Amino acid sequence: MLRLAILASGGGSNLQSILNAADSGFLKGIEPALVVVDRLCGALEGAAAAGIETVLLDRYLPGNGLSTELGRLLTGRNIDIVALAGWLSILDCEITEQWAGRMINIHPSLLPLYGGPGMYGRHVHKAVLDAGDNESGCSVHLVTSGVDEGEVIGQTRVPVFKGDTPKSLAERVLIEEHKLYPRVLAELGETLNCKYLC
Ligand code: GRF
Repeated sequence: MLRLAILASGGGSNLQSILNAADSGFLKGIEPALVVVDRLCGALEGAAAAGIETVLLDRYLPGNGLSTELGRLLTGRNIDIVALAGWLSILDCEITEQWAGRMINIHPSLLPLYGGPGMYGRHVHKAVLDAGDNESGCSVHLVTSGVDEGEVIGQTRVPVFKGDTPKSLAERVLIEEHKLYPRVLAELGETLNCKYLC
C-alpha cells in the first residue's frame, strides 16, 4: 500500500472526499496515513473522525522552517504520496524537488488561468467573473516550486452562469473538485504502484 499524506488549511471538504473514496475502496493501493494542517481548521475534525494521525505544523516558523519540518515528518512516517487539499503555505523548492511526481495539488480554476500567489479561495472566482469568462473549473497538478505552475494532470470544466457570484461559482466548482481529486489520486496511485511493483 502507498501511504498518503493529506495537507490542509481550510474546511477540509477535499480531504473528506479523499477519505470517503479510500473508505469505499476507490483508491486501490492507497492508504491515507497522515493529515498535516498548518493552522487550526475544519480539516482537523474530519481527520479526527477518521482516526488518522494528524499533525499541526507552525506556519510562522522562520525561513524555510515549515518545509523542513514537513519534509522530516513525511520521511519519518514513510509517506509515498502527498496531496495538498486546500493547503495555503508555500513550500520551498527543496521539498517540491524531493517530492517531484509524488506531490499533487488541487486548484479551483482552469490552470494555467488564475493561478499563482494570491490566487486562492474567492479571489480566483472573483477574477473569473471580473474577466467575463463563460467557463471555469478545477485542476489537479503536480507540485513544483512555482505556485500552481506544475503539469496539469486532471481538469474538469464547469459553466459560469449569468448572475453568478464568487460564492455560487465556488460551490459549483467544489462539487467537481470532490469527484476529480479522488479520480486523479487513484490514477497516480496506479502509476506509482506499477513503478514500484511492475
Ligand atoms: C478548494 O477550492 C481547493 O481547490 C483550494 O482550496 C479549497 C479548499 O477547500 N485549493 P476545502 O478545504 O477542501 O473544503
